[in-house]
Amino acid sequence: MNPPRVTIDNATCANATIIHVDSANKYGILLEVVQVLTDLKLIVKKAYISSDGGWFMDVFNVTNQSGQKIMDESVLEEIKDCLYKSIAPRSCFLQSQRRVIGVEPSLDYTLIELTGADRPGLLSEVSAVLTNLDCNVVNAEVWTHNKRAAAVIQVTDRNSGLAISDAERLGRIKERLRNVFKGRSRDAKTTVAMGIIHRERRLHQMMLEDRDYERYDKDSAKANPMPMVSVVNWLQKDYSVVTMRCNDRPKLLFDTVCTLTDMQYVVYHGSVDTEGPEAYQEYYIRHIDGSPVNSEAERKRIIQYLEAAIERRVSEGLKLELSTGDRVGLLSDVTRIFRENGLTVTRAEVSTKGNKAVNTFYVRDTAGSSVELKALEAIRQEIGQTVLQVKGHPEHQKSPAQDSPTRFLFSSLFRPRTP
Ligand SMILES: *[C@@H]1O[C@H](CO)[C@@H](O)[C@H](O)[C@H]1NC(C)=O
Ligand SMILES: *[C@@H]1O[C@H](CO)[C@@H](O)[C@H](O)[C@H]1NC(C)=O
Ligand SMILES: *[C@@H]1O[C@H](CO)[C@@H](O)[C@H](O)[C@H]1NC(C)=O
Ligand SMILES: *[C@@H]1O[C@H](CO)[C@@H](O)[C@H](O)[C@H]1NC(C)=O
Repeated sequence: MNPPRVTIDNATCANATIIHVDSANKYGILLEVVQVLTDLKLIVKKAYISSDGGWFMDVFNVTNQSGQKIMDESVLEEIKDCLYKSIAPRSCFLQSQRRVIGVEPSLDYTLIELTGADRPGLLSEVSAVLTNLDCNVVNAEVWTHNKRAAAVIQVTDRNSGLAISDAERLGRIKERLRNVFKGRSRDAKTTVAMGIIHRERRLHQMMLEDRDYERYDKDSAKANPMPMVSVVNWLQKDYSVVTMRCNDRPKLLFDTVCTLTDMQYVVYHGSVDTEGPEAYQEYYIRHIDGSPVNSEAERKRIIQYLEAAIERRVSEGLKLELSTGDRVGLLSDVTRIFRENGLTVTRAEVSTKGNKAVNTFYVRDTAGSSVELKALEAIRQEIGQTVLQVKGHPEHQKSPAQDSPTRFLFSSLFRPRTP
Protein backbone atom coordinates (compact mmCIF):
# COMPACT_ATOMS: atom_id res chain seq x y z
CA MET A 1 0.00 0.00 0.00
CA ASN A 2 1.17 3.52 -0.77
CA PRO A 3 2.27 5.72 2.07
CA PRO A 4 0.09 8.72 2.92
CA ARG A 5 0.93 11.80 0.88
CA VAL A 6 0.29 15.51 1.13
CA THR A 7 1.17 17.69 -1.83
CA ILE A 8 0.84 21.41 -2.08
CA ASP A 9 0.58 22.97 -5.49
CA ASN A 10 0.82 26.72 -5.68
CA ALA A 11 1.52 26.95 -9.39
CA THR A 12 -1.73 25.72 -10.99
CA CYS A 13 -4.05 28.37 -9.68
CA ALA A 14 -3.38 32.10 -9.68
CA ASN A 15 -5.46 32.90 -6.64
CA ALA A 16 -5.51 29.80 -4.48
CA THR A 17 -3.27 27.12 -3.08
CA ILE A 18 -4.22 23.58 -4.02
CA ILE A 19 -3.71 20.88 -1.40
CA HIS A 20 -3.91 17.16 -2.22
CA VAL A 21 -4.26 14.65 0.57
CA ASP A 22 -3.98 10.92 -0.17
CA SER A 23 -3.97 8.19 2.40
CA ALA A 24 -5.43 4.87 3.43
CA ASN A 25 -9.04 5.38 4.36
CA LYS A 26 -10.25 5.23 7.94
CA TYR A 27 -13.34 6.36 9.77
CA GLY A 28 -13.21 10.02 10.71
CA ILE A 29 -10.22 10.95 8.56
CA LEU A 30 -12.14 13.62 6.65
CA LEU A 31 -13.02 15.47 9.84
CA GLU A 32 -9.41 15.31 10.99
CA VAL A 33 -8.12 16.80 7.77
CA VAL A 34 -10.78 19.50 7.69
CA GLN A 35 -10.08 20.26 11.33
CA VAL A 36 -6.42 20.86 10.53
CA LEU A 37 -7.25 23.22 7.67
CA THR A 38 -9.72 25.07 9.87
CA ASP A 39 -7.42 25.34 12.85
CA LEU A 40 -4.77 26.81 10.53
CA LYS A 41 -7.38 29.43 9.61
CA LEU A 42 -7.41 28.51 5.94
CA ILE A 43 -10.45 29.41 3.86
CA VAL A 44 -11.64 26.49 1.73
CA LYS A 45 -12.90 27.74 -1.62
CA LYS A 46 -13.45 24.38 -3.22
CA ALA A 47 -13.08 20.78 -2.18
CA TYR A 48 -13.37 17.37 -3.82
CA ILE A 49 -13.66 14.46 -1.47
CA SER A 50 -13.46 10.81 -2.37
CA SER A 51 -13.12 7.98 0.08
CA ASP A 52 -14.86 5.08 -1.52
CA GLY A 53 -13.08 1.81 -0.90
CA GLY A 54 -9.81 1.68 0.93
CA TRP A 55 -8.35 4.94 -0.29
CA PHE A 56 -8.98 8.51 0.83
CA MET A 57 -8.29 11.25 -1.70
CA ASP A 58 -9.11 14.90 -1.27
CA VAL A 59 -8.31 18.11 -3.05
CA PHE A 60 -8.77 21.45 -1.36
CA ASN A 61 -8.52 24.83 -2.96
CA VAL A 62 -7.65 27.21 -0.11
CA THR A 63 -6.61 30.78 0.60
CA ASN A 64 -5.49 32.59 3.70
CA GLN A 65 -7.82 34.79 5.70
CA SER A 66 -7.38 37.74 3.42
CA GLY A 67 -8.44 35.60 0.47
CA GLN A 68 -4.97 35.28 -1.00
CA LYS A 69 -2.85 32.42 -2.14
CA ILE A 70 -0.42 31.26 0.51
CA MET A 71 3.10 32.35 -0.39
CA ASP A 72 4.84 32.09 2.95
CA GLU A 73 7.08 28.99 2.81
CA SER A 74 6.91 28.46 6.56
CA VAL A 75 3.11 28.47 6.49
CA LEU A 76 3.14 25.96 3.63
CA GLU A 77 5.49 23.76 5.65
CA GLU A 78 3.24 23.98 8.68
CA ILE A 79 0.20 22.97 6.64
CA LYS A 80 2.07 19.97 5.31
CA ASP A 81 3.30 18.98 8.73
CA CYS A 82 -0.04 19.19 10.42
CA LEU A 83 -1.78 17.30 7.62
CA TYR A 84 0.81 14.51 7.73
CA LYS A 85 0.25 14.20 11.45
CA SER A 86 -3.50 14.01 11.00
CA ILE A 87 -3.40 11.21 8.43
CA ALA A 88 -0.58 9.27 10.08
CA PRO A 89 -1.69 5.69 10.79
CA ARG A 90 -1.46 5.97 14.58
CA SER A 91 -3.70 8.97 14.80
CA CYS A 92 -5.80 8.83 17.95
CA PHE A 93 -9.06 9.97 16.46
CA LEU A 94 -11.21 7.15 17.80
CA GLN A 95 -10.22 7.90 21.36
CA SER A 96 -11.28 11.50 21.08
CA GLN A 97 -14.58 10.68 19.55
CA ARG A 98 -17.50 11.25 21.81
CA ARG A 99 -17.34 11.38 25.56
CA VAL A 100 -14.06 13.16 25.35
CA ILE A 101 -13.86 14.57 28.80
CA GLY A 102 -11.18 13.26 31.03
CA VAL A 103 -9.75 10.94 28.42
CA GLU A 104 -6.47 12.73 28.20
CA PRO A 105 -5.77 14.39 31.52
CA SER A 106 -3.60 17.43 31.48
CA LEU A 107 -2.29 19.35 34.43
CA ASP A 108 -2.29 22.62 32.56
CA TYR A 109 -5.85 23.71 33.16
CA THR A 110 -9.29 22.74 34.35
CA LEU A 111 -11.97 22.46 31.74
CA ILE A 112 -15.47 23.76 32.40
CA GLU A 113 -18.39 23.09 30.11
CA LEU A 114 -21.68 24.89 30.47
CA THR A 115 -24.92 24.63 28.56
CA GLY A 116 -28.27 26.19 29.35
CA ALA A 117 -30.78 28.86 28.46
CA ASP A 118 -29.21 32.03 27.16
CA ARG A 119 -30.09 35.39 28.63
CA PRO A 120 -28.56 38.88 28.62
CA GLY A 121 -25.54 39.19 30.86
CA LEU A 122 -24.98 35.47 31.26
CA LEU A 123 -21.29 35.54 30.32
CA SER A 124 -20.76 38.43 32.70
CA GLU A 125 -22.30 36.47 35.58
CA VAL A 126 -20.37 33.32 34.78
CA SER A 127 -17.06 35.12 34.59
CA ALA A 128 -17.77 37.04 37.80
CA VAL A 129 -18.37 33.75 39.61
CA LEU A 130 -15.12 32.33 38.28
CA THR A 131 -13.16 35.40 39.36
CA ASN A 132 -14.72 35.26 42.82
CA LEU A 133 -13.64 31.67 43.14
CA ASP A 134 -10.05 32.57 42.27
CA CYS A 135 -10.16 31.04 38.81
CA ASN A 136 -8.26 32.62 35.98
CA VAL A 137 -9.85 32.21 32.55
CA VAL A 138 -7.12 31.17 30.11
CA ASN A 139 -9.26 30.33 27.10
CA ALA A 140 -12.94 30.25 26.44
CA GLU A 141 -15.37 29.95 23.62
CA VAL A 142 -19.04 30.78 23.96
CA TRP A 143 -21.79 30.22 21.42
CA THR A 144 -25.45 31.15 21.54
CA HIS A 145 -28.13 29.90 19.21
CA ASN A 146 -31.93 29.66 19.39
CA LYS A 147 -31.96 30.94 22.96
CA ARG A 148 -29.45 28.34 24.13
CA ALA A 149 -25.89 29.06 25.26
CA ALA A 150 -22.87 26.77 25.42
CA ALA A 151 -19.42 27.53 26.74
CA VAL A 152 -16.14 25.68 26.96
CA ILE A 153 -13.87 27.43 29.42
CA GLN A 154 -10.32 26.60 30.48
CA VAL A 155 -9.31 27.93 33.86
CA THR A 156 -6.34 27.79 36.18
CA ASP A 157 -5.96 28.62 39.83
CA ARG A 158 -5.16 32.33 40.08
CA ASN A 159 -2.31 31.80 42.50
CA SER A 160 -0.54 28.72 41.26
CA GLY A 161 -1.39 29.12 37.58
CA LEU A 162 -2.08 25.39 37.50
CA ALA A 163 -5.16 23.26 37.04
CA ILE A 164 -7.51 23.00 40.01
CA SER A 165 -7.51 19.45 41.28
CA ASP A 166 -9.04 19.83 44.76
CA ALA A 167 -12.34 17.93 44.49
CA GLU A 168 -14.09 20.01 47.11
CA ARG A 169 -13.22 23.25 45.35
CA LEU A 170 -14.26 21.83 41.99
CA GLY A 171 -17.58 20.90 43.56
CA ARG A 172 -18.00 24.45 44.81
CA ILE A 173 -17.26 25.89 41.37
CA LYS A 174 -19.82 23.58 39.82
CA GLU A 175 -22.42 24.45 42.42
CA ARG A 176 -21.96 28.19 42.03
CA LEU A 177 -22.07 27.99 38.24
CA ARG A 178 -25.21 25.91 38.41
CA ASN A 179 -26.78 28.62 40.55
CA VAL A 180 -26.15 31.15 37.81
CA PHE A 181 -28.55 29.17 35.63
CA LYS A 182 -30.91 28.16 38.40
CA GLY A 183 -34.65 28.47 37.97
CA ARG A 184 -34.29 29.73 34.44
CA SER A 185 -33.13 26.79 32.50
CA ARG A 186 -34.92 23.55 31.83
CA ASP A 187 -31.73 21.57 32.15
CA ALA A 188 -28.57 23.54 32.69
CA LYS A 189 -25.49 21.36 32.60
CA THR A 190 -22.17 22.09 34.17
CA THR A 191 -19.23 19.78 33.93
CA VAL A 192 -15.85 20.27 35.47
CA ALA A 193 -13.03 18.10 34.25
CA MET A 194 -9.46 18.03 33.19
CA GLY A 195 -8.72 17.23 29.62
CA ILE A 196 -7.84 18.15 26.11
CA ILE A 197 -10.58 18.59 23.61
CA HIS A 198 -11.24 20.24 20.33
CA ARG A 199 -13.26 23.18 21.58
CA GLU A 200 -15.35 23.88 18.53
CA ARG A 201 -16.21 20.25 17.96
CA ARG A 202 -17.21 19.98 21.57
CA LEU A 203 -19.43 23.08 21.29
CA HIS A 204 -21.25 21.50 18.37
CA GLN A 205 -21.81 18.35 20.40
CA MET A 206 -22.98 20.28 23.46
CA MET A 207 -25.40 22.43 21.48
CA LEU A 208 -26.80 19.33 19.78
CA GLU A 209 -27.27 17.55 23.11
CA ASP A 210 -29.03 20.66 24.33
CA ARG A 211 -31.38 20.50 21.30
CA ASP A 212 -30.59 23.97 20.05
CA TYR A 213 -31.98 22.92 16.67
CA GLU A 214 -35.48 23.32 18.10
CA ARG A 215 -36.67 26.72 17.15
CA TYR A 216 -38.59 28.63 19.80
CA ASP A 217 -38.72 32.00 18.25
CA LYS A 218 -40.37 32.07 14.88
CA ASP A 219 -39.08 35.57 14.25
CA SER A 220 -35.46 34.62 14.50
CA ALA A 221 -35.92 32.55 11.36
CA LYS A 222 -36.52 35.73 9.42
CA ALA A 223 -33.37 37.46 10.54
CA ASN A 224 -31.06 35.29 8.48
CA PRO A 225 -31.71 33.66 5.17
CA MET A 226 -32.25 30.04 6.09
CA PRO A 227 -29.75 27.54 4.76
CA MET A 228 -31.26 25.16 2.24
CA VAL A 229 -30.56 21.57 3.15
CA SER A 230 -31.96 18.55 1.34
CA VAL A 231 -31.46 14.82 1.78
CA VAL A 232 -32.51 12.29 -0.86
CA ASN A 233 -31.64 8.67 -1.38
CA TRP A 234 -29.71 7.64 -4.43
CA LEU A 235 -30.99 4.11 -4.52
CA GLN A 236 -28.80 2.51 -7.12
CA LYS A 237 -25.72 3.06 -5.05
CA ASP A 238 -27.30 2.95 -1.62
CA TYR A 239 -26.07 6.42 -0.77
CA SER A 240 -28.01 9.31 0.59
CA VAL A 241 -27.22 12.61 -1.03
CA VAL A 242 -27.09 15.67 1.20
CA THR A 243 -26.98 19.06 -0.48
CA MET A 244 -26.64 22.39 1.24
CA ARG A 245 -26.83 25.91 -0.06
CA CYS A 246 -26.15 28.81 2.27
CA ASN A 247 -24.09 31.92 2.75
CA ASP A 248 -20.40 31.17 2.71
CA ARG A 249 -18.39 31.90 5.84
CA PRO A 250 -15.16 30.71 7.45
CA LYS A 251 -15.29 27.23 9.01
CA LEU A 252 -18.49 26.24 7.25
CA LEU A 253 -16.95 23.01 5.95
CA PHE A 254 -15.75 22.08 9.41
CA ASP A 255 -19.18 22.70 10.92
CA THR A 256 -21.03 20.46 8.49
CA VAL A 257 -18.43 17.67 8.36
CA CYS A 258 -18.22 17.72 12.15
CA THR A 259 -21.97 17.31 12.50
CA LEU A 260 -22.20 14.52 9.91
CA THR A 261 -19.34 12.68 11.64
CA ASP A 262 -20.82 13.09 15.11
CA MET A 263 -24.12 11.80 13.76
CA GLN A 264 -22.12 8.74 12.69
CA TYR A 265 -22.34 9.22 8.95
CA VAL A 266 -19.49 8.52 6.57
CA VAL A 267 -18.87 10.79 3.59
CA TYR A 268 -18.00 8.68 0.52
CA HIS A 269 -17.94 11.49 -1.99
CA GLY A 270 -18.33 15.17 -1.60
CA SER A 271 -17.77 18.49 -3.18
CA VAL A 272 -17.76 22.04 -1.97
CA ASP A 273 -18.00 25.04 -4.22
CA THR A 274 -18.14 28.69 -3.37
CA GLU A 275 -19.38 31.30 -5.75
CA GLY A 276 -19.39 34.87 -4.52
CA PRO A 277 -21.20 35.00 -1.18
CA GLU A 278 -22.72 31.54 -1.56
CA ALA A 279 -21.46 28.09 -0.74
CA TYR A 280 -22.77 24.85 -2.20
CA GLN A 281 -21.98 21.53 -0.54
CA GLU A 282 -22.87 18.04 -1.69
CA TYR A 283 -22.16 14.82 0.20
CA TYR A 284 -22.82 11.18 -0.62
CA ILE A 285 -23.19 9.56 2.74
CA ARG A 286 -24.07 6.34 4.52
CA HIS A 287 -24.54 5.62 8.15
CA ILE A 288 -21.52 4.03 9.78
CA ASP A 289 -23.41 0.71 9.70
CA GLY A 290 -23.42 0.95 5.88
CA SER A 291 -27.03 1.87 5.28
CA PRO A 292 -28.42 4.99 3.61
CA VAL A 293 -31.03 7.10 5.35
CA ASN A 294 -33.98 4.77 5.84
CA SER A 295 -36.76 6.69 7.46
CA GLU A 296 -38.47 10.03 7.12
CA ALA A 297 -37.64 10.80 10.76
CA GLU A 298 -33.93 10.21 10.13
CA ARG A 299 -34.05 12.40 7.02
CA LYS A 300 -35.69 15.22 8.94
CA ARG A 301 -33.20 14.89 11.76
CA ILE A 302 -30.23 15.25 9.41
CA ILE A 303 -31.76 18.38 7.91
CA GLN A 304 -32.49 19.86 11.32
CA TYR A 305 -29.03 19.11 12.70
CA LEU A 306 -27.24 20.47 9.65
CA GLU A 307 -29.30 23.65 9.60
CA ALA A 308 -28.38 24.20 13.22
CA ALA A 309 -24.71 23.44 12.51
CA ILE A 310 -24.67 26.06 9.77
CA GLU A 311 -26.48 28.70 11.84
CA ARG A 312 -24.79 28.23 15.19
CA ARG A 313 -21.66 30.07 14.24
CA VAL A 314 -23.30 32.79 12.17
CA SER A 315 -22.13 35.87 13.98
CA GLU A 316 -25.03 38.06 14.81
CA GLY A 317 -24.12 41.42 16.14
CA LEU A 318 -21.19 43.73 16.15
CA LYS A 319 -17.66 42.34 16.31
CA LEU A 320 -15.40 43.79 18.98
CA GLU A 321 -11.78 42.86 19.45
CA LEU A 322 -10.07 43.29 22.78
CA SER A 323 -6.31 43.10 22.83
CA THR A 324 -4.49 43.89 26.04
CA GLY A 325 -2.27 42.61 28.81
CA ASP A 326 -3.86 39.63 30.49
CA ARG A 327 -4.79 39.54 34.14
CA VAL A 328 -7.13 37.71 36.47
CA GLY A 329 -10.67 39.04 36.23
CA LEU A 330 -10.26 40.72 32.84
CA LEU A 331 -13.13 38.83 31.21
CA SER A 332 -15.35 39.52 34.18
CA ASP A 333 -14.66 43.27 34.04
CA VAL A 334 -15.09 43.60 30.30
CA THR A 335 -18.33 41.63 30.16
CA ARG A 336 -19.65 43.59 33.15
CA ILE A 337 -19.00 46.84 31.26
CA PHE A 338 -20.87 45.40 28.25
CA ARG A 339 -23.79 44.43 30.47
CA GLU A 340 -23.93 47.79 32.23
CA ASN A 341 -24.17 49.45 28.84
CA GLY A 342 -27.03 47.27 27.68
CA LEU A 343 -25.08 44.89 25.47
CA THR A 344 -25.25 41.14 25.45
CA VAL A 345 -22.63 38.77 24.06
CA THR A 346 -23.82 36.42 21.31
CA ARG A 347 -20.49 34.74 20.68
CA ALA A 348 -17.05 35.02 22.24
CA GLU A 349 -13.56 33.69 21.69
CA VAL A 350 -11.22 34.32 24.57
CA SER A 351 -7.58 33.43 24.35
CA THR A 352 -4.36 34.15 26.14
CA LYS A 353 -0.95 34.08 24.54
CA GLY A 354 1.88 34.67 26.94
CA ASN A 355 0.90 37.76 28.89
CA LYS A 356 -1.49 39.00 26.27
CA ALA A 357 -5.23 38.52 26.06
CA VAL A 358 -6.85 38.52 22.62
CA ASN A 359 -10.60 38.31 22.83
CA THR A 360 -13.27 38.59 20.18
CA PHE A 361 -16.84 39.36 21.13
CA TYR A 362 -19.97 39.59 19.04
CA VAL A 363 -22.37 41.84 20.88
CA ARG A 364 -25.94 42.88 20.47
CA ASP A 365 -28.25 45.29 22.18
CA THR A 366 -30.08 43.52 25.02
CA ALA A 367 -33.39 44.41 23.37
CA GLY A 368 -32.23 42.58 20.24
CA SER A 369 -31.73 45.64 18.08
CA SER A 370 -28.43 46.86 16.72
CA VAL A 371 -25.88 48.48 18.97
CA GLU A 372 -26.19 52.21 19.47
CA LEU A 373 -23.19 54.33 18.78
CA LYS A 374 -23.64 56.01 22.14
CA ALA A 375 -23.41 52.76 24.09
CA LEU A 376 -20.41 51.73 22.07
CA GLU A 377 -18.58 54.97 22.72
CA ALA A 378 -19.30 54.72 26.44
CA ILE A 379 -17.84 51.22 26.49
CA ARG A 380 -14.80 52.19 24.49
CA GLN A 381 -14.17 55.09 26.80
CA GLU A 382 -14.32 52.85 29.80
CA ILE A 383 -12.14 50.12 28.34
CA GLY A 384 -9.81 52.20 26.20
CA GLN A 385 -10.13 53.03 22.53
CA THR A 386 -7.02 51.27 21.39
CA VAL A 387 -7.62 48.26 23.61
CA LEU A 388 -11.12 47.64 22.26
CA GLN A 389 -11.47 47.81 18.49
CA VAL A 390 -14.64 47.63 16.47
CA LYS A 391 -14.34 45.31 13.47
CA GLY A 392 -16.23 45.14 10.22
CA HIS A 393 -18.76 47.85 10.92
CA PRO A 394 -17.71 51.01 9.10
CA GLU A 395 -19.97 53.50 10.94
CA HIS A 396 -18.41 52.53 14.21
CA GLN A 397 -14.83 52.35 13.16
CA LYS A 398 -14.00 56.00 13.28
CA SER A 399 -13.87 57.18 16.82
CA PRO A 400 -15.24 60.69 17.27
CA ALA A 401 -12.46 61.81 19.53
CA GLN A 402 -8.72 61.49 19.45
CA ASP A 403 -7.22 58.72 21.44
CA SER A 404 -5.37 60.09 24.37
CA PRO A 405 -4.08 58.62 27.59
CA THR A 406 -6.78 60.42 29.57
CA ARG A 407 -9.34 58.24 27.86
CA PHE A 408 -8.05 55.14 29.54
CA LEU A 409 -10.21 55.69 32.56
CA PHE A 410 -9.84 52.10 33.57
CA SER A 411 -6.26 51.80 32.52
CA SER A 412 -5.42 50.15 35.80
CA LEU A 413 -7.75 47.34 34.79
CA PHE A 414 -5.78 46.66 31.69
CA ARG A 415 -2.27 46.96 32.98
CA PRO A 416 -0.14 44.04 31.90
CA ARG A 417 0.14 41.44 34.61
CA THR A 418 3.30 41.76 36.62
CA PRO A 419 5.34 38.62 36.39
C1 LIG B 1 4.98 28.55 -4.07
O1 LIG B 1 5.13 29.63 -4.98
C2 LIG B 1 6.26 30.44 -4.74
C3 LIG B 1 6.19 31.63 -5.67
O2 LIG B 1 5.53 31.28 -6.87
C4 LIG B 1 7.52 29.61 -4.93
O3 LIG B 1 8.66 30.40 -4.68
C5 LIG B 1 7.49 28.44 -3.97
O4 LIG B 1 8.59 27.59 -4.17
C6 LIG B 1 6.20 27.65 -4.08
N1 LIG B 1 6.15 26.71 -2.99
C7 LIG B 1 5.66 25.49 -3.10
C8 LIG B 1 5.67 24.65 -1.86
O5 LIG B 1 5.17 25.06 -4.12
C1 LIG C 1 -7.21 36.44 -9.36
O1 LIG C 1 -7.18 37.69 -8.68
C2 LIG C 1 -7.04 38.79 -9.53
C3 LIG C 1 -6.86 40.04 -8.70
O2 LIG C 1 -7.59 39.94 -7.48
C4 LIG C 1 -8.25 38.85 -10.47
O3 LIG C 1 -8.12 39.92 -11.34
C5 LIG C 1 -8.34 37.54 -11.24
O4 LIG C 1 -9.52 37.54 -12.03
C6 LIG C 1 -8.36 36.37 -10.32
N1 LIG C 1 -8.29 35.12 -11.08
C7 LIG C 1 -9.09 34.07 -10.89
C8 LIG C 1 -8.82 32.87 -11.73
O5 LIG C 1 -9.99 34.04 -10.04
C1 LIG D 1 -10.04 27.85 -6.60
O1 LIG D 1 -11.18 28.60 -6.15
C2 LIG D 1 -11.26 29.91 -6.68
C3 LIG D 1 -12.44 30.56 -6.03
O2 LIG D 1 -13.60 29.79 -6.10
C4 LIG D 1 -11.36 29.85 -8.20
O3 LIG D 1 -11.33 31.17 -8.70
C5 LIG D 1 -10.18 29.05 -8.76
O4 LIG D 1 -10.33 28.92 -10.15
C6 LIG D 1 -10.11 27.69 -8.10
N1 LIG D 1 -8.96 26.97 -8.62
C7 LIG D 1 -8.99 25.68 -8.96
C8 LIG D 1 -7.73 25.08 -9.49
O5 LIG D 1 -10.00 25.01 -8.82
C1 LIG E 1 -2.21 36.33 2.89
O1 LIG E 1 -1.15 36.12 1.97
C2 LIG E 1 -0.60 37.31 1.42
C3 LIG E 1 0.50 36.91 0.43
O2 LIG E 1 0.10 35.85 -0.35
C4 LIG E 1 -0.06 38.20 2.52
O3 LIG E 1 0.41 39.41 1.94
C5 LIG E 1 -1.14 38.48 3.54
O4 LIG E 1 -0.61 39.21 4.63
C6 LIG E 1 -1.72 37.17 4.05
N1 LIG E 1 -2.82 37.45 4.96
C7 LIG E 1 -2.95 36.85 6.16
C8 LIG E 1 -4.14 37.23 6.97
O5 LIG E 1 -2.14 36.04 6.57
